[in-house]
Amino acid sequence: MSKQVVLTGIKPTGMPHMGNYLGAIRPAIDMARDENVEARFFIADYHSLNSVRDAGTLRSYIYEVAAVWLAAGLDPQKTLIYKQSDVPETFELTTILMAFTAKGLMNRAHAYKAAVDANREKGQSEDHQINMGLYTYPVLMAADILLFDTNVVPVGKDQVQHVEMAQDIAGVINHNYKEDLLVIPKAQTSENLMTIPGLDGRKMSKSYDNHIPMFLPEKQLRKIIMKIVTNSQGLEEPKDPDTCNVFALYKLFSTPEEQADLAARYRAGGMGWGHAKQELFEKLNAEIAPMRAVYDELMADTTKIDAILADGARRAREVASRTITRMRKAVGVA
Ligand code: TRP
Repeated sequence: MSKQVVLTGIKPTGMPHMGNYLGAIRPAIDMARDENVEARFFIADYHSLNSVRDAGTLRSYIYEVAAVWLAAGLDPQKTLIYKQSDVPETFELTTILMAFTAKGLMNRAHAYKAAVDANREKGQSEDHQINMGLYTYPVLMAADILLFDTNVVPVGKDQVQHVEMAQDIAGVINHNYKEDLLVIPKAQTSENLMTIPGLDGRKMSKSYDNHIPMFLPEKQLRKIIMKIVTNSQGLEEPKDPDTCNVFALYKLFSTPEEQADLAARYRAGGMGWGHAKQELFEKLNAEIAPMRAVYDELMADTTKIDAILADGARRAREVASRTITRMRKAVGVA
């Protein structure tokens, strides 16, 4: 059986948070360890340009994302890691895809529709502050995916529609030229890890400002964990683990035995919220602390990241140039 190509992109928009780590980074790195998988991870820097407009900021976000993935255990010898902007074939493929992308398809994209709705609500014109980068975002993302003959795209729920759009666009092209020209990708979301609760119990998200950044100094990490919202039950009262945000997060960092043990202590009473949070802090920190050390080292001298990304770009372009040559011939420009 040939290996499955698994590809995912991460937009550099600042330090990833625990929701990104648990929902995307950790499962993707686990998957990359699978011998039957050929994993490709990239930094979607041109996707960020739609919103990050300061060069220094974008540059440091790119390093942060690279350092996070490497610190979280990505092995650059085994797994391809590269920067989208280093693979210019992406943008040539985007041009080809554009010619086959219905404008109506883009009109239906959730992210674009949400921006239009937000404008309407504020009484602004529909197009206010919407650039073509946002509007055509799904085409660039389709190019990222299709360029690498990707079989599987591990993504959060919010990105599934984009992968479906890549399927649509590839389908139109295959139908026009030949059915096996582009590999049709599949989205993969992992059910149990899909919604990571934030400090207030809603989905962890930077836009709700309820997130736990991935690498905080220990003191600050503990402080933010102490802010997780709980109910007002007193120390002695028995507590329900299944409706508790602290427990929900604890589950993601512990073994089934540890979970059963903490659940029993919840139900027995005599354990306050401060204790539960302390347990969570310790578990979470035990997993994150070694990564934080690697992260700090990589960020202190970014030449190592530069070298890894340069090597990744070279290897990525070998694959990308084969696809683009195939596409150029297929459409008739070569
Ligand atoms: N749109 C994705 C996000 O915001 C990032 C991304 C860009 C991506 N290109 C991709 C993800 C290709 C998977 C495959 O999270």
